[in-house]
Amino acid sequence: MATNRTFTMLKPDATGAGNTGKIIDRMIEAGFSIKAMKWTQLSKAHAEAFYAVHSERPFYGELVEYMTSGPIVAMILEKDDAVASFRDLIGATNPAEAAPGTIRADFAESISANAVHGSDSDENAQIEGRFYFSECEEA
Ligand code: RTP
Ligand code: MG
Repeated sequence: MATNRTFTMLKPDATGAGNTGKIIDRMIEAGFSIKAMKWTQLSKAHAEAFYAVHSERPFYGELVEYMTSGPIVAMILEKDDAVASFRDLIGATNPAEAAPGTIRADFAESISANAVHGSDSDENAQIEGRFYFSECEEA
């Protein structure tokens, strides 16, 4: 995956509240193009593996439980400077601290149920994209 790509998941609060289409519209309006997309649900083992980097954090158990509580939408997105640009679009982890107009400010319920995931580096965007998509599934 090139460095102009990032990986995102719409989290169970977003899919459950019927916000999937609205959030994808925000991404497209912000100039991202969709290179792969999948509606699915994480098993406990898959959520633990995806968030293994957080395994020592106090919120890990809660995070895994939450991320397996409903459907998610996994996507690979493309735009110049995709990782940083996408993190700007989604806003701070805690929606109470997210800038006005960001996806988390407008759609997130709480610091746990915060609507979307965004990769934090090109390296992790590559790893996370490959967690869900094979090379032949990525446009
Ligand atoms: P993400 O990985 O989902 O894009 O979120 P992030 O980079 O903004 O935040 P990160 O530190 O990577 O945390 C991953 C996810 O764990 C949940 N979290 N809960 N209860 C808490 O204090 C807490 N802190 C983090 C959030 O769902 C966060 O998005
Ligand atoms: Mg993160």
